Amino acid sequence: MSFIDHAKNPYASLSPAVWRGSTVVFDSFEDFVARKSRQPDGYSYGITGTPTARGLEQRIAQLENGKHCIVTPSGQSALMTTVMGFIRTGDHILVSDSCYGGLKAFAQYWLEKLGVDVEFYPPTIDSGIEQLIKSNTKMICLEAPGTVTMEMQDIDAITAVAKRHGVLTMMDNTWASPLYFRPLDHGVDFSIEAATKFFGGHSDVLMGSISMNNADHYSLLRETQSILGQQASPEDCFLVLRGLETLNVRLKEQCGNALQIAQWLDQQPMVKQVLFPALPSDPGHAIWRKHFQGNGCLFSMILQPADESALGAFFNALKHFPIGASWGGTHSLIAYYPASQQLARAFSPTSEPIIRISIGLEDPATLIEDLQNALQTYERARR
Ligand SMILES: Cc1ncc(COP(=O)(O)O)c(C=O)c1O
Repeated sequence: MSFIDHAKNPYASLSPAVWRGSTVVFDSFEDFVARKSRQPDGYSYGITGTPTARGLEQRIAQLENGKHCIVTPSGQSALMTTVMGFIRTGDHILVSDSCYGGLKAFAQYWLEKLGVDVEFYPPTIDSGIEQLIKSNTKMICLEAPGTVTMEMQDIDAITAVAKRHGVLTMMDNTWASPLYFRPLDHGVDFSIEAATKFFGGHSDVLMGSISMNNADHYSLLRETQSILGQQASPEDCFLVLRGLETLNVRLKEQCGNALQIAQWLDQQPMVKQVLFPALPSDPGHAIWRKHFQGNGCLFSMILQPADESALGAFFNALKHFPIGASWGGTHSLIAYYPASQQLARAFSPTSEPIIRISIGLEDPATLIEDLQNALQTYERARR
């Protein structure tokens, strides 16, 4: 008895099919025995994906100018799967101090306890990273601009050092997305996206992607995905495929509006500093201009000093910025990172509280008016 219908399905649509399935069935005993040989691209069990995941992976690989891609259930799982694929007890891993907090926590609280030598490095170290390379250095983790504090990294300088020493590099590229920066073209081995943000685009799905060129790395990570159980659901893959249909137009609009709003905030007396490499005043501007084709929709700012109750008054005065920690979706969002978070870091550029803003698709004039009103409230609350 065959469970496989090999007849050509005459149905055609612009919408990708959602293929569900934990179990993959086989034509014959021999086929089943040889099932492992179907990996890394084929299908042997649901954990490594159905054709819906494969369609999404091909689409993301194209965007990243990469040969291969693996999708995972979240951005954090993409970061963790990449590290777990290659790092073993006794290895040394260099993690930028402004990498995403989940990756840093994983390195600090898990890898270190598993006997990995974890070292956080100053994000703006650039080619100076060479001094930190040891004989057991296996991987360098990058993110540009960094999470919350937005430091730029010279990716080309770091990958040049890494290649000289045979060290792997992985970069969290979520802020720029492959539309505005393609890490693989700059010598990075693994380009990671939290597809939760721009790719999905509507704040309704969690997903991550790992793109790469090296076929051996791809095989190893596909196996790692299976061993760690890191499969994304077919419905979620469908949602991200749908999100990608409008990625270009959403980014153009959101990121253009973010620049406009950041420029306006930069002029406000209550704003001490806007952390956003697209602004000429930002310390990372020259690197950003040289290597990136555009800016993300996310930036941070530091207000003139006041106690936390004034910051509370600022947040609570906002009508068009829901308070939430994610970003990249069609709705603007705002989040708060208290001074204690910056103080806890080894190489933070500031010890002050930070406000992080993600710009959505709302009318920028409405958002500016809302921010203006909240800044006035802040000024009154400071007195
Ligand atoms: C830069 C960056 N990388 C990774 C992640 C993690 O993504 P996820 O929430 O899908 O696990 C986030 C989430 O906030 C992020 O901002």
